[in-house]
Amino acid sequence: MSDRVGVLFVCLGNICRSPLAEGVFRQLVEHEGLAEDFDIDSAGTSSYHTGDSPDERTVAVAARRGLRLEHVARQIQPADLRRFEYVIAMDNANLSKVQRLAAQTPDAVAEVHLLRAFEDGADAGGEVPDPYFGGAGGFEEVHDMVVRSCRGLLEHIRRAHDL
Ligand code: 4NP
Repeated sequence: MSDRVGVLFVCLGNICRSPLAEGVFRQLVEHEGLAEDFDIDSAGTSSYHTGDSPDERTVAVAARRGLRLEHVARQIQPADLRRFEYVIAMDNANLSKVQRLAAQTPDAVAEVHLLRAFEDGADAGGEVPDPYFGGAGGFEEVHDMVVRSCRGLLEHIRRAHDL
């Protein structure tokens, strides 16, 4: 683990939800002048899309908000549970997979959470639904819940780490 606070966002394919969350969170962190304090990345629990760029629908949603996503998809590795203090899953299925991997990884430091646990309001604690097989509207919805949750996550980490 480095001195930086490590935050890894995790979904299934690492082409729709988690690269978006990575980009949104990085933008928030940069906006707050905290880029040097963080190590931010994303990964998938599957290897289905390893090496791929983010889905074009995710890229379009991000681009409309001035966000350029440059991630290359990869599968989560045991070493990630040692490198990242916060591992943030998009839904319950991926949360369970990461928790299982963490339990099997010696010297894991990761706290594993659902992203929407950090969202304010009535919908807090839910899942970020998989938009892959749906229409463009699903990607807009995902974006909005990711932004709300990432704000809460950053506040939580700033408090916990006195940043
Ligand atoms: P993601 O979306 O987990 O948000 O990246 C998906 C991408 C690909 C597949 C499923 C979900 N897939 O089945 O290939």
